[in-house]
Amino acid sequence: MELISGYSALSVKMADQTLMASILALLFGFVVLYRLVFKKNGETKSESESSAVTTTTVISRSKNGADVDADVIIVGAGVAGSALAHTLGKDGRRVHVIERDLKEPDRIVGELLQPGGYLKLIELGLEDCVEEIDAQKVFGYALFKDGKATRLSYPLEKFHSDVSGRSFHNGRFIQRMREKAASLPIVQLEQGTVTSLLEESGTIRGVQYKNKSGEELKAYAPLTVVCDGCFSNLRRSLCTPKVRVTKLFIFLLV
Ligand SMILES: Cc1cc2nc3c(=O)[nH]c(=O)nc-3n(C[C@H](O)[C@H](O)[C@H](O)COP(=O)(O)OP(=O)(O)OC[C@H]3O[C@@H](n4cnc5c(N)ncnc54)[C@H](O)[C@@H]3O)c2cc1C
Ligand SMILES: *[C@@H]1O[C@H](CO)[C@@H](O)[C@H](O)[C@H]1NC(C)=O
Repeated sequence: MELISGYSALSVKMADQTLMASILALLFGFVVLYRLVFKKNGETKSESESSAVTTTTVISRSKNGADVDADVIIVGAGVAGSALAHTLGKDGRRVHVIERDLKEPDRIVGELLQPGGYLKLIELGLEDCVEEIDAQKVFGYALFKDGKATRLSYPLEKFHSDVSGRSFHNGRFIQRMREKAASLPIVQLEQGTVTSLLEESGTIRGVQYKNKSGEELKAYAPLTVVCDGCFSNLRRSLCTPKVRVTKLFIFLLV
């Protein structure tokens, strides 16, 4: 069975399906559905559990009298946080990135980079992040139905031969992006969990976080950018987005 989605085409092989596997799959599907549709504490359904708003920018001024240890604090070193850290660092900004877990992520959340994304990487000087991670070039889609097959190619004629989509292990790509950002001496990439934003008279001054040793610390900067992903805990304190979940994305790997 071929399963084509907006992001990627996954081959789902369902040979030798045992009863146990079916039960596990059902349970997994239910958990995913539950997590996407309902929030843990029974608040409204529409808020937060969607990827519609993934990056929030909070502008603030320096804290009077307090040590400001960076020009920018970035919460989260996923694809957004890492790319931003590298870009601002290249620009000469002192960047303090706080990422909950610096180990290689192991999630299925971004295995296909469209050609436009690759062009963006070139623009940002990050195109080498798809090197040495066993990335495969992608030139389009293949559609299969009722024994028939057809191809949809990306219109890449006008571009350099290197420009195409890329398919890869998301975690390896993220690690490359993080390494690239941290390779700039002006970028400090630290493992830590941000627990709250430090707000004074309606202005965000920085963040409170727990570092790797569990120490509660505070960091201040004129600008804090929250890039903590679709399950953000911090977004709720910034705004109340009316996000409607319009589709569910359920993977079944057997
Ligand atoms: C099933 C699935 C498949 C997908 N497939 C694709 C695809 O093929 N192609 C594609 O382009 N996109 C795909 N996406 C979308 C893609 O995953 C997201 O758009 C992308 O990951 C968003 O990047 P981000 O940096 O905003 O957030 P994330 O990648 O979620 O990164 C957020 C980071 O913040 C950290 N963090 C969170 N909270 C805190 C905190 N309090 N303190 C410190 N750090 C924190 C997390 O550890 C994480 O590293 C897919 C998504 C899903 C769910
Ligand atoms: C956590 O912060 C404390 C206090 O600043 C520091 O002594 C410790 O080395 C930090 N831990 C790590 C892993 O950076």
